[in-house]
Amino acid sequence: MFDEVKPEIDPRNSLNALSSKEWLSESVSVWNQRGLGAGHAEAAIEKLHPAPYSYTDVARVVRMFSKPGQTVLDPFVGVGSTLKAAALEGRNGIGFELYPDFAKLAKLRLKQEVPADVLEASTQQVMQGDSRKLAKKLEKDSVDLIVTSPPYWSILNKKSDHKQKQTREAHGLVTNYGDDDRDLGNIEDYEEFIEVLGKTLADASVALKHKGYMVLIVGDFRHKSRYYMFHADIARAMEGHGFTLQAMNVLYQRHKRVFPYGYPYAYVPNVHHQNIVIMRKL
Ligand SMILES: C[S@@+](CC[C@H](N)C(=O)[O-])C[C@H]1O[C@@H](n2cnc3c(N)ncnc32)[C@H](O)[C@@H]1O
Repeated sequence: MFDEVKPEIDPRNSLNALSSKEWLSESVSVWNQRGLGAGHAEAAIEKLHPAPYSYTDVARVVRMFSKPGQTVLDPFVGVGSTLKAAALEGRNGIGFELYPDFAKLAKLRLKQEVPADVLEASTQQVMQGDSRKLAKKLEKDSVDLIVTSPPYWSILNKKSDHKQKQTREAHGLVTNYGDDDRDLGNIEDYEEFIEVLGKTLADASVALKHKGYMVLIVGDFRHKSRYYMFHADIARAMEGHGFTLQAMNVLYQRHKRVFPYGYPYAYVPNVHHQNIVIMRKL
């Protein structure tokens, strides 16, 4: 079907550098996750973080919602997947990270995993500290796209029976971000967590241009038999901060293993997707 569409870039396209064919293919609401696999040479630093996302998935977001030479902000950059994607796609990147160790790893990752000439062609900045304070240092309208996977509500601390956590523990890898009170992942109450996260993203979005996109990659989860629609709750919160919900795509993680949660007593899903929440600044 896409072959019928002209391949050139439409001169009216002010959003990205995709041809019409590429644009239409990205408009399909289910994306397949393309991870590296734990054994890949470039996964060594990524593995040191408990909740990274794949830079190849972020690169798709970057290509769809910005043009080469523009600036991408990740207010929760972890070990720098967004900045690696930005560098490889010829965009400038700014990342905030609370923990000095992750911030250091993000810088190291850029050096080790992006060819030097490619890295030099753009500006990648890792700023260590609390996102809420760092956002104030950015100039208004200086950012073209915000993309992030925000901290998860206390869930990394709570999921003592979670298979992924058990596997990481068995390999001596960290299972939460850390103990800092400013870490949004350590907020105990879910409603408060959503409120603070919404406000933090709103603070970061002061730097985002009018009509710019904010893309959040988030997973829903179960905790103590309640199913939390994290994606819907944070999207609703952002509507109260001057954003409109443009789309909710599904990132299908088809490589994940299936566990017999609940079987044979109750239906408990293997959640094998993340949500790509696509919002636009009004
Ligand atoms: C889901 S992780 C992001 C991982 C990242 N996408 C990657 O691939 O490495 C969320 C990050 O937010 C950081 N974080 C939590 N609270 C923060 C705050 N107040 N300011 C800045 N970063 C914070 C955590 O340390 C964690 O690294």
